[in-house]
Amino acid sequence: MQVAENFSLKEYNTFGVDVKARKFISVHSTEELCDILQQTYASEIFVLGGGSNMLLTKDIDKTVIHIGLKGIELISESRDEVVLKVGAGENWHQFVLYCIEKAYGGLENLSLIPGNVGTAPVQNIGAYGVELKDTFDSCEAMRIQTLEIETFNLEQCEFDYRNSVFKNKLKGEYIITSVNFRLSKTDHQLSTSYGDIQAELDKNKIKKPTIKNVSDAVVSIRQKKLPDPRELGNSGSFFKNPVISETEFKRLQRQFPDMPFYALHANKIKVPAGWLIDQAGLKGYRKGDAGVHKNQALVLVNYGNATGEEILALSNEIQDKIYKKYGVKLEPEVNIF
Ligand code: EPU
Repeated sequence: MQVAENFSLKEYNTFGVDVKARKFISVHSTEELCDILQQTYASEIFVLGGGSNMLLTKDIDKTVIHIGLKGIELISESRDEVVLKVGAGENWHQFVLYCIEKAYGGLENLSLIPGNVGTAPVQNIGAYGVELKDTFDSCEAMRIQTLEIETFNLEQCEFDYRNSVFKNKLKGEYIITSVNFRLSKTDHQLSTSYGDIQAELDKNKIKKPTIKNVSDAVVSIRQKKLPDPRELGNSGSFFKNPVISETEFKRLQRQFPDMPFYALHANKIKVPAGWLIDQAGLKGYRKGDAGVHKNQALVLVNYGNATGEEILALSNEIQDKIYKKYGVKLEPEVNIF
C-alpha cells in the first residue's frame, strides 16, 4: 500500500491537470481496500481508476483511493470461449493486447482506449461499433457501506450508450474490483463495417482479417485522429454524441443537409458532436493552454499548463456556441470534479 499526503495527481489523470489530493492511497488487494474503507468515512473517499475520463477542477480535499488491483485469471474455458477475471487496476489496452496475443476475440475494436479495466463498465466504453457490454460477463464490486463484495451480471449493470447503473442509481456506492469477460476462441465475430476499419484493411490488402489485423487497424485509425495522452493531455471524447428526436433532427437536417447521423431505436437520432463543433468553426480553437483538438473536435486538450477550471470554461463556451447555432444541448461525457 502506498500512502502520501498533499499529493499531486498530475500523473494520475490523462488531462495532466495539476491538482493535489489531501491524502493519496494506492491499494493492491481487496483486503487493503477493505482496511482503508473501514478507517475512512464514506463522505471522505474519492475513488480513482485510470483517471482517463475525468476533469479535475480543484484540489481534492479527501482521501483519494487509487485502485491498483491487478491480475488476469482464467475462470472457465470450453472449445469455443473463455471467461477471464481481470483486476480493476489492469491497464485497459495492455489487457486488450494480452487477449490478442492469446487469440481471444471480442475486444479488438476497443484497442488503445486509455484507462483501466475497472472503470470501463462505469461508462460502458465503446468504439467502432463495439461496446464493453458485448463481451461483459459480470463484475465484482465492493459496497462502500457494508464492505461486502457483490456480483453484478449484465442485466444488473443496465448498460446503455456511455452509461451504466454505476453512473446513475448506484453512483458512489460501489467500487468495482474485477470484471469478467466472455471471449471467443473460435469463429470470432469481427466487426469491421464501422468507420474507417474496412478502408484501413483494404489499404493494407487484408482480405481475411484476424483479430490482430482489426486491432492494428483500430490502433492506426486512433493514432491518426486522437491525441496520445502521454504527449498531449486529453480525456478522449469530452462530450457525448447528442441523441435527439426525429422532429428535432428533421429541423436540423433542413438547415444542415450534410450533417452525418445514426438512426437509433424509437425515433431517436444520434448526431456527431464532433461534426457540430467542427462546423461551428471551433476545431483547433485555443484559449491559453486549453484547446479543441485539431484533428477531432470532440476532444479537448491541455497544451501543457491549463488548469481544470480553464478546460471547464472552454467546454462551457463550446456548449453555449453549439446551443446558439443548432439548438442542441451538449452533455459532457467526462466526469467533472
Ligand atoms: N467529425 C467531424 N469533425 C470532427 C470530428 C468528427 O466532422 O472534428 C465527423 C466525422 O467525420 C464523422 C462523425 O463526425 O462523420 C463521427 O466522428 P468519429 O467517427 O470520429 O466518431 P465520434 O462520434 O466523434 C465516437 C466515440 C469515440 C470513438 C469513435 C469511434 C463518443 C462520445 N465518442 O466518436 O469514443 O472512438 O466514435 O467509434 O461516442 C471516447 O469515448 O473517448 C471516444 C474517443
